[in-house]
Amino acid sequence: LVAGIDSSTQSCKVVIRDAGTGALIRQGRAAHPDGTEVHPDAWWAALNQAVDQAGGLDDVAAASVAGQQHGMVCLDADGAVVRPALLWNDTRSAGAATELIDDLGGGDRGRRAWADAVGIVPVASFTLTKLRWLARHEPAEAARVAAVCLPHDWLTWRLGGAHDLDALRTDRSDASGTLYWSARTNEYRHDLLELGFGRRLAVPRVLGPTEVAGTLPGGVPLGPGAGDNAAAALGAGARPGDVVVSIGTSGTVFVPTDAAPNDPTGTVAGFADATGRFLPIVVTLNAARVLDAAARLLGVDHEGLSRLALSAPAGADGLVLVPYLEGERTPDRPHATGAVHGLTLRTSTPAHLARAAVEGMLCALADGLDALVRQGARTNRIVLVGGGARSEAVRRIAPEVFGLPVLVPPPGEYVADGAARQAAWVLSGGDEPPAWSTAAPQPYEADRVPRIRERYAGARDAVVDRESR
Ligand code: XUL
Repeated sequence: LVAGIDSSTQSCKVVIRDAGTGALIRQGRAAHPDGTEVHPDAWWAALNQAVDQAGGLDDVAAASVAGQQHGMVCLDADGAVVRPALLWNDTRSAGAATELIDDLGGGDRGRRAWADAVGIVPVASFTLTKLRWLARHEPAEAARVAAVCLPHDWLTWRLGGAHDLDALRTDRSDASGTLYWSARTNEYRHDLLELGFGRRLAVPRVLGPTEVAGTLPGGVPLGPGAGDNAAAALGAGARPGDVVVSIGTSGTVFVPTDAAPNDPTGTVAGFADATGRFLPIVVTLNAARVLDAAARLLGVDHEGLSRLALSAPAGADGLVLVPYLEGERTPDRPHATGAVHGLTLRTSTPAHLARAAVEGMLCALADGLDALVRQGARTNRIVLVGGGARSEAVRRIAPEVFGLPVLVPPPGEYVADGAARQAAWVLSGGDEPPAWSTAAPQPYEADRVPRIRERYAGARDAVVDRESR
């Protein structure tokens, strides 16, 4: 048996699977506080609760931890957490992101310099911007920091019972979201860490996909783990050409590739994947929450929202919802707000608004698909996962918006599954992860692709232009 753990923004999920076949044996789940600033001890408590619920780890032969990316976990010289972690969805460091771009020449020149150096361009989500914020705003805390790591690194370290900063380990996928490690060269850029924070810090050693990061009591190996998006790609069995669209707290669009992407605009982040390759990705801050907000606004539950959306015509008669409800990261407008365009007497119905919410959320993700295409990624079909993929309206409208066939695998814990598959790979030591048979996905295709995106683009551009960075 192997265990896969997913410490996400809101909860911890654990799956115990058969290492050979991948069959699900047991699972557990526990919530922890969400938000944008959380003490890592809350993740640790939830992890232990979820592990207990899954029947413990006594009979597993290997385990791996995946987690939300980018969160800044600062440790002092004794390995104690210095302050609550600032998470990927915390936008207070937006100004620091701009400063970092300025530090490398500013504007397009600065962006290009970052993309060339580390494959990504600073936005508030990435770890180094949070370190810059800390150095500026909490100098006393900053002075105590001896090491910086990420949520999944810290949990792996704690599971292995280590206290020594030298024992910190991470993997390529999560390291590639820090701004101080390059997926292309597989090397840390300590100079950039120093540029952002003001001095160098200890950082976890970056492991390859099957290297051992530590051991559980009894010598059970812990895999290197992964960022949640890379783990989801592994868990969903995504191959080149399979564009995974995940509708969770964040919206993500990514596709495994053999070549490192390089997008100087920063729209596509050049992350690494969990198999030794690359995972160009576009991330939006507004995904499942758009559906939550629309349901709340209309006073219905998610099924009601789906029914309403499907009862309105494609394109919602011109009603467009631009879903930047929490600011946005792609496009990089951290202070943007949402907008509704095209309100008329005819479109002022709950059904139109429901449809516009689903279409707007999907159009924002389809903008991400376009950016991946511009990077030369092969895009044959969409694999739709995440909580939002449970909505029938989302499944049926997605092929109309993306203009590609959509496959919806059965609801599952793809991130935890990816971690479990990695743990099985650590055991097998093969060149490729073990082939686990997975349940057949449900296909969705559109008879025609309505012109939903053109109207959306107009409304989106109005919002983007209004918001100067
Ligand atoms: C990726 C990102 C999010 C988090 C969510 O860049 O910020 O997808 O990983 O957990």
